[in-house]
Amino acid sequence: MDFSLHFFILFLFSSFHLRPSTSCHPTDKQALLHFKTKITSDPSQLLLSWNSATDCCSSWDGVGCDSSGRVTNLTRPGIVSGTDFIADTFMSGSLSPFLGNLSSLQFLDLSNLKHIKGRIPLEFGKLSRLTHLFLYSNQLVGPIPTSFRCLFRLEKLYLGNNLLSGIIPPSIFTHFKCLTELGLSGNKLSGSIPNTIGKLIQVKNLDLHANNFSGSIPKSIGNLKSLRYLDLSENEITGSIPNSIGELSELVLLYLNQNKIIGSIPSSIAGLSSLIFCRLSENQLSGRLPASIGKLEKIQRLILENNKLTGKLPSSIGRLTTLTDLFFSNNLFTGKIPKTFGSLENLQTLDLSRNLLSGAIPHQLSKLQRLQSLDFSFNPLGLRSIPNWFAKMKLFKLLLAKTGIEGQLPKWLSSSSISVLDFSSNRLTGPLPHWIGNMTNLSFLNLSNNGFHSSIPAEFKNLLLLMDLDLHSNHFTGCLDNIFSKGVVDPLGHYNSIDVSGNHFSGCVDQDIGNRAAMSSIKSLVLSNNKLEGHIPKSLSELSELQVLELAENRLSGEIPAEMGDAAELTTILLSKNRLCGAIPIQVLNLQKLWKFDVSENRLCGEIPPHKAHFPVSAFKHNRGLCGTPLPPCNHS
Ligand SMILES: *[C@@H]1O[C@H](CO)[C@@H](O)[C@H](O)[C@H]1NC(C)=O
Ligand SMILES: *[C@@H]1O[C@H](CO)[C@@H](O)[C@H](O)[C@H]1NC(C)=O
Ligand SMILES: *[C@@H]1O[C@H](CO)[C@@H](O)[C@H](O)[C@H]1NC(C)=O
Ligand SMILES: *[C@@H]1O[C@H](CO)[C@@H](O)[C@H](O)[C@H]1NC(C)=O
Ligand SMILES: *[C@@H]1O[C@H](CO)[C@@H](O)[C@H](O)[C@H]1NC(C)=O
Ligand SMILES: *[C@@H]1O[C@H](CO)[C@@H](O)[C@H](O)[C@H]1NC(C)=O
Repeated sequence: MDFSLHFFILFLFSSFHLRPSTSCHPTDKQALLHFKTKITSDPSQLLLSWNSATDCCSSWDGVGCDSSGRVTNLTRPGIVSGTDFIADTFMSGSLSPFLGNLSSLQFLDLSNLKHIKGRIPLEFGKLSRLTHLFLYSNQLVGPIPTSFRCLFRLEKLYLGNNLLSGIIPPSIFTHFKCLTELGLSGNKLSGSIPNTIGKLIQVKNLDLHANNFSGSIPKSIGNLKSLRYLDLSENEITGSIPNSIGELSELVLLYLNQNKIIGSIPSSIAGLSSLIFCRLSENQLSGRLPASIGKLEKIQRLILENNKLTGKLPSSIGRLTTLTDLFFSNNLFTGKIPKTFGSLENLQTLDLSRNLLSGAIPHQLSKLQRLQSLDFSFNPLGLRSIPNWFAKMKLFKLLLAKTGIEGQLPKWLSSSSISVLDFSSNRLTGPLPHWIGNMTNLSFLNLSNNGFHSSIPAEFKNLLLLMDLDLHSNHFTGCLDNIFSKGVVDPLGHYNSIDVSGNHFSGCVDQDIGNRAAMSSIKSLVLSNNKLEGHIPKSLSELSELQVLELAENRLSGEIPAEMGDAAELTTILLSKNRLCGAIPIQVLNLQKLWKFDVSENRLCGEIPPHKAHFPVSAFKHNRGLCGTPLPPCNHS
């Protein structure tokens, strides 16, 4: 009795286990098993539980079914995240056409597996119940199958970051009445964007960036009334921006940068009342900015740089009080900087560099208390002096290269917290003041192309954060030690580049230069065209990241140290017009990455060592004792 009851319970339990209510349909099971056979590597064993002996609906990870045992979900992406972990993995192999037999499939996510190769099977067009298809971040090739037009229930389609090519078949969009998100970025798709895109009336996100699309933006884009995110950047798009763009009142983000778009910005953009991020840079836009731009009432970032925009900056821009960043560099804007810019109370970045702006800087800008970065460089502003009200601002970056500044450095700088300062290519004169040492937040200083004349004050050593120093083409004198031996605050303040060429610096180059803390990770050291004497320091060998070394046109003597051959990153060594003697060390001439080398006009002698790189005759000329390739052979008599 006891025994049989026990048996009965066991039987009940096991039969329940063998025949669950949602046992997997054989066609679907076969399709999934075939998919598994096409996966050649699965290092994280995402498909480990997929076993022909078990039920695909109840026992297989990433598979979900409906009540009749048909597979509705297949979800095995390469990035899996749980409540407290994120795992990243890959799978190699290709997509089985058998997946097309999953006739109830709604959700297919095989994204981010990195190494899924081959084409998207035409059979995927049979998945007429599919609502979500995610195959992004793989290595899929070939076209988007025309059979996709049958996927009329699709809501989200992401095929980005693959190697897909060919055109988008125009018929494809006609039936996608439910599509809300389309991501095809980072492929090699070409041809024009079909006008049928205007049929995607539900679409919210449209990301086609970084492909090879050409042709113009279809007018029908204006039909996409739900569009919030439109990214067509980094393509070959031509033509002008259609007026219909202004109908996209829900649009939050508009990226058309890095294309070949011509014509002017239509005044209809006033209709983009939800726009926050606008990037139209790197195109060939011309004409004036429409005054209606002042109606973009939510705009925060407006990036129009590297175009051919002309005319005056509309004063209506001053109404865009939500603006945080404005990049208008490298256009052809003329006239004055509008006073109304003083109302842009949230502005953090104002870049008007490389235009044709003239006239004084309106003092209203002093009200911009959130401004961190101001760049008016390369405009014919004819400033003469830097307005004193700049002292009231809390700038992090101040760039006024080639704006006509004259006179001495203004003293208010000493108490500023500026980190990036560029006053290059002006007519500044006088000394580099002692108080420069008070500008302790400086990380980048460019005073090149001016008329400074003084030595480098001892206080310079207090610039503990300085990483890039450009003082070239001035009249600086004295020795360079205060530059090389400045302090650092580890890990900050180690030089990236120094250019002091074209001055009157004299004295010997610090023999210990390679061991100075500030120099340890320098990449470019340019000391040419001064009056430096003595030997080239052997310690240069310690500068393991040095790529560019220019010491030409000085009075350096002695031999080229063979130790320099240890600075393995050197690509450029220019030593011409000095008084160097002895032979060229074989280690130096054979530095792996060296492609630019010049020792002309010295007193070198001996045979040029054999070397792999090609250096022209001119690199060695005017050294009376040098011979051998590429110069005439040595006369071994
Ligand atoms: C299918 O996946 C979606 C989205 O992850 C989820 O909401 C749904 O519950 C899943 N259905 C089944 C049957 O697993
Ligand atoms: C599933 O699809 C494949 C290839 O598309 C086909 O050859 C096969 O007959 C189908 N299998 C079943 C069981 O329907
Ligand atoms: C981009 O498309 C053009 C035709 O519009 C074609 O000539 C060119 O080879 C394509 N470039 C790439 C990288 O596919
Ligand atoms: C340097 O910047 C910090 C903030 O990054 C600031 O607190 C400090 O006052 C600045 N120093 C000077 C000398 O302005
Ligand atoms: C300093 O400014 C000049 C132009 O005025 C520019 O050519 C140079 O590259 C700048 N230096 C650095 C380090 O950026
Ligand atoms: C520079 O800093 C020193 C020390 O903090 C101070 O005594 C001096 O007044 C400052 N100089 C200027 C011009 O701000």
